[in-house]
Amino acid sequence: MPLSDALRARKSIRAFKPDPVPEALIRDLLEDARRAPSGTNIQPWKVHVVAGDVRQRLEREVLAHRETDPEDAAAEFPRKPGARRDPYLGRMRTLGKAMYGLLEIPKGDQAANWRQWGRNYQFFDAPVGLIFTIDRDLDAMSFLDVGMFMQTLMLAAAERGLGTCAQGAWNNFWTVTRRVLEVPEDEYIICGMSLGWPDEAAAVNRLEAEREPVDAFARFHGF
Ligand SMILES: Cc1cc2nc3c(=O)[nH]c(=O)nc-3n(C[C@H](O)[C@H](O)[C@H](O)COP(=O)(O)O)c2cc1C
Repeated sequence: MPLSDALRARKSIRAFKPDPVPEALIRDLLEDARRAPSGTNIQPWKVHVVAGDVRQRLEREVLAHRETDPEDAAAEFPRKPGARRDPYLGRMRTLGKAMYGLLEIPKGDQAANWRQWGRNYQFFDAPVGLIFTIDRDLDAMSFLDVGMFMQTLMLAAAERGLGTCAQGAWNNFWTVTRRVLEVPEDEYIICGMSLGWPDEAAAVNRLEAEREPVDAFARFHGF
């Protein structure tokens, strides 16, 4: 598949078939992802690949914790509130409206919203979950590197017909993830990702997230 086709094929998948993803195939994806660039080539990415019993335990324990302590939902690394203002807030709302429309969740139905967001912690039923961590003493430049790694992995998956969804949701309830996966104390848990075979019949997978036109974000100088 040409790269430009993989770029267009990739989109976030939020419903998966139960069919397993063989370890060898995941290793192939990681082989591709490690080609991602990183500042001074420090390759700061670390990833826990989770399936089977461990995946089940992670899901069970995070969901239980979320029910008993829903307020314990902040990322462990410093975050800023900028995404909660326009134009970002407006884009977030557009996405939410489209997604909840496909899921037939009425506006303002808090209980259904809570349940749907909880699907993140089931990796949307994907057979494989990925948890990305980074050493605590690295800064924003290295977070960029992990983002590039993740996108390379998602494109490699798209090329093979696999679906993915990057999941910032996994930077919440990180105390549980740390305990279950034995993540060292000197690493932040920064993101998760669902990986599996897309359920083509699921309405939510019809979501096409809008994009701003090039001229809304690019300024050309010296042309
Ligand atoms: C860093 C990052 C974190 C994300 N976190 C979540 C998440 O927690 N849950 C979710 O359903 N989607 C999540 N997404 C998916 C975005 O909503 C999605 O990429 C965006 O709406 C664009 O849609 P597309 O991926 O289908 O092109 C995340 C994406 C990125 C890049």
